[in-house]
Amino acid sequence: MTRHLVLPLLLALGGLAMAEDPHEHETAHESHGADGAHASPSAEGAHATGDLRTIMLALGTEMAHAQEALWREDLVTVARAGRAVADHPHVSPTEMARVQAALGTDFGAFVAADRTTHAAAVALADAAGGGDLSATVQALGAVQAGCVGCHQQFRARLVE
Ligand code: HEC
Repeated sequence: MTRHLVLPLLLALGGLAMAEDPHEHETAHESHGADGAHASPSAEGAHATGDLRTIMLALGTEMAHAQEALWREDLVTVARAGRAVADHPHVSPTEMARVQAALGTDFGAFVAADRTTHAAAVALADAAGGGDLSATVQALGAVQAGCVGCHQQFRARLVE
């Protein structure tokens, strides 16, 4: 974890992420600008927002890209996918209010799961960007564990 800022995956709204410079997302060696897989890649700087499910579907696609690329040892693509997972659009304020209302006092644990997964995705992008295959395999596993961990805890309570 080389970054001094961990921007929460989904937490645009807590007020926190809004105050931060969106360009903190970028790393020196990897940019996701050319990857058209995101629904709204053009909103860089303004932070696109969306509902949870739309964001999740994009995350699923990015993770599939990462895995597919791994079989070919195409770490450049893995890094790009990891970066796209880390930099996905934030949850809209309305959607965040829904999540907060549904989870109540467990909302903090949801945010924590979000941060953990975000950090894992940054680590994946870094490992793959650095060309380290075995670190990439491990980091990919950590991202998956983050996704599944949050789903186990919260998905059933938040599916619309
Ligand atoms: C902080 C919690 C959290 C994290 C982290 C998380 N998810 Fe989710 N995910 C959810 C919730 C909640 C839903 C249900 C959303 C809904 O239906 O409104 C969901 C749903 C999904 C779905 C199903 C969408 C559908 O078809 O209904 C996919 C696919 C998905 N997530 C992929 C991922 C991937 C890939 C990652 C990791 C890179 C990830 N998620 C990380 C909370 C999380």
